[in-house]
Amino acid sequence: MSGKWRNAAPNENSANALATAVERDLITFPEPLPAIPEAEANSRWLMLNACPLPARLSEFIGSFLCEQGFRPQYLSLEKAGYDVVAELPSQSEGHTGALVFASRSRKANEIEFARAWEMVRPGGTIVMAGEKTAGTSSLRKWVGRRTPIAGHFSKHHAQLFWVIRTDEQWRQGQVTNLVEDFEVAPGMFSADGPDAGSELLTGFLTDKISGEVADFGAGWGYLGAKLLEISGKVTTLDSYEAHWPSLKAVETNIKRIGSDADVNFFWLDLTAEPVGKRYDWIIMNPPFHVSRASESQIGAAFIRTAQNALKPSGSLLMVANRELPYEKVISVLFSDVQTLEENEKYKVFHASRPFKKKGNT
Ligand SMILES: C[S@@+](CC[C@H](N)C(=O)[O-])C[C@H]1O[C@@H](n2cnc3c(N)ncnc32)[C@H](O)[C@@H]1O
Repeated sequence: MSGKWRNAAPNENSANALATAVERDLITFPEPLPAIPEAEANSRWLMLNACPLPARLSEFIGSFLCEQGFRPQYLSLEKAGYDVVAELPSQSEGHTGALVFASRSRKANEIEFARAWEMVRPGGTIVMAGEKTAGTSSLRKWVGRRTPIAGHFSKHHAQLFWVIRTDEQWRQGQVTNLVEDFEVAPGMFSADGPDAGSELLTGFLTDKISGEVADFGAGWGYLGAKLLEISGKVTTLDSYEAHWPSLKAVETNIKRIGSDADVNFFWLDLTAEPVGKRYDWIIMNPPFHVSRASESQIGAAFIRTAQNALKPSGSLLMVANRELPYEKVISVLFSDVQTLEENEKYKVFHASRPFKKKGNT
């Protein structure tokens, strides 16, 4: 996997800077409504790329309708009591304000700002909050060229700025683009084209890969689509992905292939949620950049989930950055492990005959 991509940033610094701005009365959130009548639902603010607010702002949990498409963060918001959805209904509009947490994709931040603008009523406030490393200053300049910046504040390595929505439409640019006929959008993994590691793995996709197959961390569907093009012996292809917009793109991109295989799509955190089916093959290019967690931990968790989700005769085919130490975890979990290729950047593994725990068939 290329190092360019990161999972959505948890935005801890931004949330702390926001708390300070609220305590200094620079930003005023709406009163939390404990039981919101349908007619007043829009008096809540939207929170896009939502993250849990610091404890000192916990009284405002009920002030927000949150959108978070990355399943691990969605689950932690839900657990903390936020009203959260993976994707707001497209007709959402007329909200009194919006709080947008920046991701590391500049283009995705522009798109999210424009969405917030369209969903907030004229006179409402839109606050953008981001880590300094997320390019928040240049985003502020970009917004400031179109509408006055009402205020800004920096603290805790983060920056906030806010605007008052006017009557003008923002006019969103093109959101999705095509990469080799695949539908892709900013903020997804390898949004500019297939990852070099994934391309290497496609060299090992043959019609030996048959039966019930899963693609773990499917991104926008590159590996699964290539497999369906190469092997006519796949009866089922299940794509698992934690990032909701990517999963929607997978669905479009896989269905476009027009294969006879049964295709299914699962929005799941593969490091924390159980997989309910068992497979003949699992293919994957696991992620490894998650905020401050050790780089290989998430890939190791994917390998463990794959071991559990394979039939006793099943096989795992995976590519990984060569410096990540996966050999140990794979050899503990599978009785037969082969390195199919190793170049200066990547390694491709084939692991079969997973050791099975008692009661785990
Ligand atoms: C290295 S990318 C590979 C994407 C795609 N398979 C490809 O080859 O282009 C890893 C994918 O795993 C997804 N992912 C990250 N954390 C995840 C998790 N906890 N559960 C499921 N998928 C996750 C990411 O959103 C990303 O799309």
